[in-house]
Amino acid sequence: MDKQGEARGVSFDSATLLYGVFGDPVRHSKSPIMLGRAFAETGMNAAYVAFHVKPEALGDAIRGVRALGIRGVNVTIPHKVEVMKYLDDIDETARAIGAVNTVVNRDGRLIGYNTDGIGYVRSLKEETGAAVAGARILMLGAGGASRGVGYALAKESPAKLYIANRTASKAEELANDLTAVADAVGIGWDRIDHIIGEVDIIINTTPIGMHPNADDVPIDVSGIRRGAVVSDLIYNPLTTKLLREAEAAGAVVHGGLGMFVYQGAYAFEYWTGEPAPAAAMREAVLEAFGARIEGTKA
Ligand code: ATR
Repeated sequence: MDKQGEARGVSFDSATLLYGVFGDPVRHSKSPIMLGRAFAETGMNAAYVAFHVKPEALGDAIRGVRALGIRGVNVTIPHKVEVMKYLDDIDETARAIGAVNTVVNRDGRLIGYNTDGIGYVRSLKEETGAAVAGARILMLGAGGASRGVGYALAKESPAKLYIANRTASKAEELANDLTAVADAVGIGWDRIDHIIGEVDIIINTTPIGMHPNADDVPIDVSGIRRGAVVSDLIYNPLTTKLLREAEAAGAVVHGGLGMFVYQGAYAFEYWTGEPAPAAAMREAVLEAFGARIEGTKA
């Protein structure tokens, strides 16, 4: 029997702790499989389920967390911003990012965190060995995902953080928000070619290259430094065309699956106070994604 089967074999009792994810839609979510594996692996008497919560029901759903004593929830699209107004406290970084993806029920007080950015940075460091401190970084995009990643990177003392965006004003706005923490500069897309040869880490946070447009690439990587790290937040496909081209140009490459795994690992750690079994969580997600991702590769 596999780990998931073992988990299902455990009979829940009156001491079982409940966790879950709120989203709309939520049926595609791999969080129950990933966190279910985490609880099974660590032998905790806990269950994690998906709740399909429509926007108009979010307030009631959060009241339900309080009433039922649900220990923690992940919050996904479209609730990450809206959920903030129902919580008792918001962690400083989540407030700065302007979005919450993890709610912790601490003795009846609901506290909001954002684990997307720190999950990304942990994955980048653990999977590539890259040093973010002192690095010159180029981030492509200035949307919602970029805000979380940008804040987490800024806190790691990079030497320089360039943010390039098609709409340059949005890049300047995000860079402005980060200047208190790091040397951040917002630039237009046309400036990328001028700086690409001097950066150590390039991160794509745009959807360019995502299934079903897997033949698209955001930038020409022929000018990168050999040994630079090229990272993509996209995990479908697992290896984007950008990463294939970057690898051929001598880069160390890093895909987006780790960000999903580690945002969940941090949520697990905030809820339980125990280290997350990240390798088993990754394996569970890969098993669940496997067929679909293989099936959609170019
Ligand atoms: P998310 O929350 O996933 O980050 P988003 O907030 O809509 O999504 O942001 C998408 C990012 O990808 C933005 O930086 C967007 O650029 P604009 O601000 O100019 O819209 C960028 N993006 C999306 N499609 C793009 C394209 N075809 N070329 C360049 N940038 C693109």
